[in-house]
Amino acid sequence: MIDTTQRPVLLTGAAGNLGRHLARALGEKGWTLRLSDLRPFPDPLPPRASFTQADLSDAATVLRLAESCGLILHFGGASTDDYSFEQILGANLRGLYHIYEAARRERARVVFASTNHTIGFHERSEKLDDDCAFRSDSYYGLSKTYGELMGRLYFDKHGVETVAVRIGSCFPEPVDARMLATWLSYADLTRLMERCAAAERVGCCVIWGASANARTFWGRDARAALGWAPQDSADPFAGQLG
Ligand code: NAI
Repeated sequence: MIDTTQRPVLLTGAAGNLGRHLARALGEKGWTLRLSDLRPFPDPLPPRASFTQADLSDAATVLRLAESCGLILHFGGASTDDYSFEQILGANLRGLYHIYEAARRERARVVFASTNHTIGFHERSEKLDDDCAFRSDSYYGLSKTYGELMGRLYFDKHGVETVAVRIGSCFPEPVDARMLATWLSYADLTRLMERCAAAERVGCCVIWGASANARTFWGRDARAALGWAPQDSADPFAGQLG
């Protein structure tokens, strides 16, 4: 269990869509947040939060940002395949290495914002469990596969714990038919982060980041061990989205 009020929590990607939501929601819950992003933070700072504008590819700054942190919520980086390979290289490969070196030094737990694009070339008719083969569908997805494998290396070699969340589609509401399977509500994401901090041990595990959607493509994962169960569902949107 990580004490998120006493030990700071580093949140990367804080100026992004999910980072802004988590900064607000976790700040309201009394977490001591150390926020960071390449871009300026656009919102009022939550209580007990600080913000540092930084590039994940800057090793010294990442190590300094993580000093004394018990938990790193790693949401920063190239978040779609629209980023160039060079940008992906700097943020998602080099930056990821800096995050894990920082976690090793601080003996911090990592929550890694992974993606369904690590396994995107499986057929949709297959129901996938957390131990299915990686089948990345883009350079972006491949970089997140590297991230998950980096987490495995640091757990096996150094005991650094990781929850890799293969996020489906995390938006305020589902907006197309695919999201009837893949949608993750902001509230379920927040509750997942709380469990990632509160769980006694998490080891190195994978969570399918989706709400309780009847049309889900995904099956077994480590949610029971974490004590997380999604409470929202895309199902009520089926009528309007098909
Ligand atoms: P976003 O693009 O809104 O936020 C990512 C943030 O990372 C941005 O604010 C950007 O400035 C920052 N960033 C990019 N390169 C950086 C660098 N070199 N150094 C420091 N910061 C850098 O993305 P969003 O939607 O908030 O997603 C957050 C995380 O969750 C991402 O890692 C993404 O891959 C993952 N994810 C999100 C999904 C979703 O549905 N929103 C689905 C699957 C995965």
